[in-house]
Amino acid sequence: MTIVYLNGEFLPIERAQVSVLDRGFIFGDGVYEVIPVYGGRLFRLDQHLERLARSLAAIRLTNPLTNEMWRQCLRELVTRNDGGDQSVYVQITRGAAPRDHAFPKDVKPTVYAASSPLKPLPADLAEQGVAAVTLPDIRWQRCDIKAITLLPNILLRQQAIDQGAVEAILVRDGAVNEGAASNLFIVKDGVLVTPPKGPYLLPGITRDLILELAAAHGIAHREAAISSADLKAAAEVWLTSSTREILPVTRLDQRPVGNGKPGALWRRMMGLYQDYKQLVRERGEAPATG
Ligand code: PDD
Repeated sequence: MTIVYLNGEFLPIERAQVSVLDRGFIFGDGVYEVIPVYGGRLFRLDQHLERLARSLAAIRLTNPLTNEMWRQCLRELVTRNDGGDQSVYVQITRGAAPRDHAFPKDVKPTVYAASSPLKPLPADLAEQGVAAVTLPDIRWQRCDIKAITLLPNILLRQQAIDQGAVEAILVRDGAVNEGAASNLFIVKDGVLVTPPKGPYLLPGITRDLILELAAAHGIAHREAAISSADLKAAAEVWLTSSTREILPVTRLDQRPVGNGKPGALWRRMMGLYQDYKQLVRERGEAPATG
């Protein structure tokens, strides 16, 4: 039975109910997190809680729980769903109130957390990689907030799927910033490059870990703008996220990336990433240096 957390209670998902007046339902007025769990341990939990606090502050919503309360709540959720590998979803909305764009007064936020099984990565990932397409970034100017309002991302992802790809890489003013639900890395002249943080991309937790692993293991890396031309000429292209780890893009806009196979640096980083996950399974959180 799937157990979820809703406003202070743990209960079976079938019994979890939210008002139709909830501003999440009416306006998409809320923020969220997705946290992977390996061997019953919440991966990079402090970093996810820090980003959640940042998103809440950005939409002017008081954090409903302290970090210690969050840790207890999410650990209990994981345990009640039998540990193992999971994907935890956390959502906070501004609460239920008669429809009015202005913030309601004295309304309690709706706090929800649920867990689902972590979907396995594609079986042929290391041989085949994945396909991606570039599309114009039609999103807003605050993509750094992990807002539940994801209509542009959904439309872009579906457009990519309709073209036989797994992800859309988004182009704004000639620069590529990230995917519809992933961050972007390329390998250019032997250097791993990812765009710097800013308003046009989500500060990904996986992205940060990859930069930490690169630094700890002497892999040349740089945070720098990536143009459409850089992307097109890249030796390797990766897409990263908590649920899909590091996807090697081997076909971009119907053309092969590099030699059309997952690259050597992807293989190395994927190894480091899996070793890091294993440490977390065994010991809990670990520094990137192992
Ligand atoms: N999305 N950029 C966007 C727009 C995202 O939605 C995500 C993750 C990322 C990667 O961030 P992280 O490494 O912290 O998962 C980048 C989650 C997984 C989702 O919406 O399901």
